[in-house]
Amino acid sequence: MAGISGHAFRLQARRFGAALMTTEMVSSHGIAYRNPRTQAMLDPIADEHPVAVQIFGARPEIMAAAAAFAAAAGADIIDINMGCPVRKVVKTGAGVALMADTGLAARLTAAVVAVVKVPVTVKIRSGLSREVTALTFAQRLEAAGAAAICIHPRLASQGQKGKAAHDVSAELAAKLSIPVIASGDISGPAEAESLLARGCEAVMVGRAALGNPWIFEDLLNGAEPHHRDLEDVLAEMKIFWRDVVSEMGDERAGRYMRKYYGWYLKPYKPGASLRDSLRRTEGFTEAERLIRGELGGS
Ligand SMILES: Cc1cc2nc3c(=O)[nH]c(=O)nc-3n(C[C@H](O)[C@H](O)[C@H](O)COP(=O)(O)O)c2cc1C
Repeated sequence: MAGISGHAFRLQARRFGAALMTTEMVSSHGIAYRNPRTQAMLDPIADEHPVAVQIFGARPEIMAAAAAFAAAAGADIIDINMGCPVRKVVKTGAGVALMADTGLAARLTAAVVAVVKVPVTVKIRSGLSREVTALTFAQRLEAAGAAAICIHPRLASQGQKGKAAHDVSAELAAKLSIPVIASGDISGPAEAESLLARGCEAVMVGRAALGNPWIFEDLLNGAEPHHRDLEDVLAEMKIFWRDVVSEMGDERAGRYMRKYYGWYLKPYKPGASLRDSLRRTEGFTEAERLIRGELGGS
């Protein structure tokens, strides 16, 4: 998840049992042209295994160069983004825009497969705006050498609206020979088990993990997600904060963490004034004092 799944977030998911984490989508141009900020996104992967690096772009030769760099930096899987509907990405022909040009998408996949030894996976959506193109599209990617397909079965035009149409995931799982990973609205064991029963090889969790790393434990144990004690939440936030600071330094960590306070505290229904004060905090010590002041805890 762009803006979210940095090194600290991935480490946290691993501590709670997730089997594989994917980086934020990383610009192939940024990697290929050695942009320092883009390259910094790849620094932590040298000691983090297994990890998938997701790259985006629309030019096969640049995607191939970026993939080769990421694989040399330690990526265990290269994942190609063909699902992002954000305007900034789509207008360059990348992300879900590639679903409008099956030939280019297949050439791009083949170009990446040709230069790396690690598996190359592709993340797609159901299609663009009208007709559902996921199956024929995915079959072309399979023929081009994709090792697995991850599907988020919403149309590009839906963004995150509506419900993920997992009949599409099940159809892909039935008709492709490569593994299918299902993404979208997985927030408890019932959805996960049903997708596995319908032939998907794995499920991917996105938004349900925001402020709730326990989701991975719950899924693995077949337990319904439930509220954790405030003490456990604060203890976990402290560990996460420490890892975020070591990843990005105090200042960026302060900004990054602000959105997490709301996510972690959602079950406790913090009042508007606490939410406001937390948005202005600099460090975790201050945030913890404010939380305990309003929500209790020793
Ligand atoms: C903030 C945010 C950032 C995302 N960034 C990416 C991304 O960089 N690459 C990607 O393939 N999907 C991205 N997604 C989509 C998710 O991977 C996932 O497919 C989608 O949110 C549906 O799954 P969920 O209901 O579990 O969140 C993003 C989603 C969110 C909410």
